Amino acid sequence: MNKVLFVCLGNICRSPAAEAVFKKLVNDRGLSDQFMIDSAATCANHIGEMADARMRAEASNRNINITSRGRQFEVADFEKFDRIIVMDDSNYSNVMKLNPNKKYEAKVSKMTDYCSEKFSEHTVVPDPYYGGQDGFILVLDLLEDASQKLLSSMA
Ligand code: 4NP
Repeated sequence: MNKVLFVCLGNICRSPAAEAVFKKLVNDRGLSDQFMIDSAATCANHIGEMADARMRAEASNRNINITSRGRQFEVADFEKFDRIIVMDDSNYSNVMKLNPNKKYEAKVSKMTDYCSEKFSEHTVVPDPYYGGQDGFILVLDLLEDASQKLLSSMA
């Protein structure tokens, strides 16, 4: 079983989209029974909430269904998951603050580390929350691209 957790600030835009994009890819490849895929927030502001309606709408344009509810990242997740994939540098430092002796450092990486050449200028999946529709489209473009290499790095 491969266990992967996607993490962003609020767990209502980027990481639930990453969870849904990666689940769809894994499902399309017939690998669902080999994966446990989840997402979490570094902040507590949106616990229990559905993903942002703008993110769900853009995802549904690509036949991606985001159904998860917000939950906060917890220290136990370092043990529960093999891979912890964060969206930006702020998420990375927030996660690493919960891991002061860096015991789990090798499990933590950034989603953009898996992007293809096409998106090589992107070093983060940018927070779309305060921006327009373009931001949500870019998030999905980056997530769909990075998911390919992420999956091949695991399966
Ligand atoms: P996310 O986006 O980290 O991709 O879920 C955000 C959601 C909510 C807020 C910021 C970013 N917020 O400030 O409430």
